[in-house]
Amino acid sequence: MLGGTTEASALARALAAHPGYDVLLSLAGRTEKPSPQPVPTRIGGFGGADGLAAFLRQGQFDLLVDATHPFAARMSQNATEAVAKTGIPAFCLRRAPWIAQQGDNWRHVASIQDAVAALGRSHRRVFLAIGRQEAYRAETAQQHFYLIRSVDPVDPQIVLTNARYILDRGPFDVESETALLQEHRIDAVITKNSGGAATYAKIAAARALGIEVIMVSRAAAPAMPAVETVEAALATINHLLPPG
Ligand SMILES: NC(=O)c1ccc[n+]([C@@H]2O[C@H](COP(=O)([O-])OP(=O)(O)OC[C@H]3O[C@@H](n4cnc5c(N)ncnc54)[C@H](OP(=O)(O)O)[C@@H]3O)[C@@H](O)[C@H]2O)c1
Repeated sequence: MLGGTTEASALARALAAHPGYDVLLSLAGRTEKPSPQPVPTRIGGFGGADGLAAFLRQGQFDLLVDATHPFAARMSQNATEAVAKTGIPAFCLRRAPWIAQQGDNWRHVASIQDAVAALGRSHRRVFLAIGRQEAYRAETAQQHFYLIRSVDPVDPQIVLTNARYILDRGPFDVESETALLQEHRIDAVITKNSGGAATYAKIAAARALGIEVIMVSRAAAPAMPAVETVEAALATINHLLPPG
């Protein structure tokens, strides 16, 4: 299983309880202290689609589950190619995107770069809630204040004249997200449309405070069968691969 998400860990937990399955969970190694996992793990890239295909053959795996984050596009593309090369059954576990509700003030953009550009020329106070990997994109718009939240420190450091960095790991609740937006007088939130409950509170808080959300859309879904919930993933595994 390709992981790095809450859903991957939950699915791993459910499978660990089944003596009929041997599960290996693969993590990219992006977080300095990954949460403890209920199954054996391996960490680090495979060396592209060919590397993953070779890894799958060598390990004689019967099934590949792509349970990576909806924005881990490269990994999902590699998984699709590796599956085509090896013929190993596979499916993708991808949580549903968030959908705007009444009261939401969202602007949809295709990338973080576009999100930063969409802030406009005049000074804004921005909550950049996109993780650390692409926070450097804010460097192109120095006229704004940025509140940058990530699990680990942004590294390499980025050069922003007006920024505040906070380290925190979800899940977050609406009360504390509302207080955070108010404390920093935020008037725009930049987020990826990750979906799921763990980081939704900032969206609800922005709605309550009437703050604009610049929502980065997902790239096209990977070309393999997909389910949206851990329960559906378990049912698919049971169907494709009854416990040995
Ligand atoms: N992007 C996000 O917003 C986000 C948020 C939360 C968690 N995550 C998790 O963090 C991981 C990395 O995300 P990303 O955006 O950097 O992905 P990415 O850009 O799609 O992946 C870049 C490269 O990292 C390696 N990689 C990615 N996921 C891996 C995994 N689960 N196991 C082994 N190698 C992996 C692969 O290297 P090789 O080509 O060498 O195999 C891949 O080509 C993912 O597992 C994802 O679930 C991402």
